[in-house]
Order: sequence, then C-alpha cells, then structure tokens
Amino acid sequence: MKKILTVVGARPQFIKASALSHALATEVELNEILVHTGQHYDENMSAVFFDELGIPKPAYHLGISGGRHGEMTAEMIKQLEQVFLKESPDLVLVYGDTNSTLAAALAAAKLHIPIAHVEAGLRSFNKRMPEELNRILTDHCASLLFTPTDVASQNLLHEGFEQNQITQVGDVMLDVALLSKERAQQQVSTQLLNTLDLQHKDYFLTTIHRQENTDDVNRLKAIFEGLSLIAQSKKVVLPLHPRTKARLAQFALNQLLDDLLVIPPLSYLEMVALECHASLIITDSGGVQKEAFFHQVPCLTLRDETEWVELVEAEWNTLLKPSHAQEIYEVAMIKQGSQGKPISPYGQGQASQLIVQGIKTLFA
Ligand code: UD1
Ligand code: UDP
Repeated sequence: MKKILTVVGARPQFIKASALSHALATEVELNEILVHTGQHYDENMSAVFFDELGIPKPAYHLGISGGRHGEMTAEMIKQLEQVFLKESPDLVLVYGDTNSTLAAALAAAKLHIPIAHVEAGLRSFNKRMPEELNRILTDHCASLLFTPTDVASQNLLHEGFEQNQITQVGDVMLDVALLSKERAQQQVSTQLLNTLDLQHKDYFLTTIHRQENTDDVNRLKAIFEGLSLIAQSKKVVLPLHPRTKARLAQFALNQLLDDLLVIPPLSYLEMVALECHASLIITDSGGVQKEAFFHQVPCLTLRDETEWVELVEAEWNTLLKPSHAQEIYEVAMIKQGSQGKPISPYGQGQASQLIVQGIKTLFA
C-alpha cells in the first residue's frame, strides 16, 4: 500500500481534488490522506465544496490563513513538515499555484519526498503575480509533472525539463465540469435563476479576486465602474470574493456595487448553473475562464495576460487590461452571446484517471 498525501487549501483546489480523490479511492493499493492548510476558511469558500462534491474530510486541518505571503507560506511549511515527518508519505500531491501549493512542495522537497504537481507548466510570464512564482518553483521541485495542455507541456520543455518527466493528461477541471453539469441543471438551475430573478442568456456573470486587480485602486475602480456602466442595460451578477469585498470597503468604492446583483460566494453547482445560463462571463479567475469555454459561454478576462492562451486564440476568451471603465463596457457589449472556434485543448475529461495511472507507474 502506497501513501499519497494531498495538500489543498484554496477554493479551486477543493474542486480539482474532488475528481482525483474519487479516482484514487477506487485504487486498492493507494491510500490518500488529505491535508487542508486552512488558507480558505469561510463556510462558503471551503466546507460547502467538501459537502457538495463528496470530498473526504481532511485528516489534518492546519488552520493557517491570512497575513502576508511570506508569513502564510512559512507557517504552512513549518506545519506541513511536521505532518510529512509523522506520516512519511510515498508521494505528496499538489494542485495549481497557491501559497498552499508552494509550501507543500518546498516542505516535501526538503524531505526528499517525491511530488506530483497537477496543473504543471502553466505560465503567465509575469513574475509579479504570486501565482507565477508559486507554480514555477513547484514545477521545479516536482517529480511528476501533470500538464493540462500542449502549451503547458511546451513551457516545461523550454525550461529544460525532459519529455519523460512530463505527462499531459488534460484538465482535471473538465473532469469535474462534465461530472457536475447535469447535476447542476437538474438540482440547482431553475430554483437559483428564479430566486435571483434571472432569465436564460439575459445576464452577465462576473467574478473578480486576483491580487493585481483588487489591491490596485485604479484597476479596481476601473473594473467596478465598468461593471456599473454595464449594469445600466444588463443584469450583472457578482458572487463576491471576500478579498474583493474587503478591498472595495477599504478604498471606499462600495457605492460601485449598488447597481450589481451582489451575492455571497456560491457553491460549485450553483456557480456552474449560473455559468451555463449567462450570455457573458467577466472574470479574472483562472478556473472560471475555462469553465466559460466548457459551457460554451464567451468570456471577457480582465487581466494583462492569461495562462489559458488557447482560448484567446480560438476567440472564446477576450483579454483586456482593466484600465478604462468605458472600454470594459464596450468590449463586454460586443462580446456577449458570441461563440469561438471549435477546439478541444483540455482532453476528454479523463485527466483524473490518467493521473492515477501516472502515479501507479511511479510506484511500479
Ligand atoms: C488565493 C490564491 C489565488 C487563487 C484564489 C482562489 C495565493 C497566493 N492566492 O487567493 O491564486 O486564485 O485563492 O480563490 O495563494 N478570505 C476570507 N475568507 C476566506 C478566504 C479568504 O475572508 O475563506 C480573505 C482574507 O482576508 C484573506 C484574503 O481573503 O486575507 C485573501 O485570501 P488568500 O487566500 O490570501 O488569497 P486569495 O485572494 O483568496
Ligand atoms: N467558484 C465557485 N463559487 C464562486 C466562484 C467560483 O464555486 O462563487 C468556482 C468556479 O466555478 C471554479 C473555481 O471556483 O471552479 C475557481 O476558483 P477561483 O476563481 O477562486 O480561483 P482561480 O481559479 O482563479 O485560482
């Protein structure tokens, strides 16, 4: 029996882990132990995903959140090292690019424990983003690099990795999306649309949380002035991330929320339901950009660059640096209801199975 210790901490990681944890649970010779760093802690940023997606209860919850990046990451490294020493795992499994990802990778690498990185190889080529540092460093600590796309695999080859270190498996978020779409439609859609008084393809869905947008008053102001302009003619639904809520209050920009339909963060199935029925998604989230495409909804991404360049090339996603409210308004109005070219860069929804195979090969 091989012991896999999976470290999660933030909302998108719970969602990704839901697919892989189920796949790992079917393997008799693999035993997964889940560790939650505590990075996301509100009920609707954490527990709701474990309940709704049937993710096993974490064996450890470290309760580490907030503070500056160095402080948070350091505390995680310290406590994860103790867990790794106690459990002696055969493999540490990490997802994506958060501080929880990097902390687990560094703690494991120093103890010479092999690391599997799911969503390896993504790059924005902007090292001012905390996520870019986290994923580059994690990739360079990892033994198993599971990439979602051709572009991600190419990025790793350019950084000097050997082809045999890289396993392209597709995107685990597609696995989850395919498993959940019908459930969302059947169990959640009608009631949620009724409750929020929304009509099919007659509203925009938006999420904003990325540090370079929330912590820069000019960008935050441009984004929310742009959304206010849009809201004069279109319903704009905003499940509000706690970081963004805090910054809007801090910069005295709360009045820009007045015309938006502001709601607390949603469960995954609720989010899928609102994505499917929107005529445009406006976001700075990594995961939501892809989900827009999975559900064939056009996306406007308010960032300077994206890791998911294939969606921009195929015109499913439009990238816009959020500097001017009027520009955000105009581009959103043009892009609503549009469709991109038919592409399938994220595999067939089998990423979890392929990752399990990759892990078994390591132990063979
Ligand atoms: C983190 C990740 C980001 C990811 C995002 C997903 C890093 C560096 N960033 O950003 O890559 O896209 O999660 O959502 O790891 N807060 C709450 N309740 C919560 C969680 C957060 O109030 O449950 C507030 C706290 O004030 C906290 C702030 O949000 O200080 C930021 O949280 P943090 O986890 O540091 O970063 P995110 O912006 O959520
Ligand atoms: N999500 C959710 N509820 C929300 C907003 C997002 O369930 O209110 C889901 C979304 O569907 C996607 C994931 O969270 O699966 C994306 O996470 P997030 O935007 O927090 O982080 P990122 O992907 O940018 O790292």
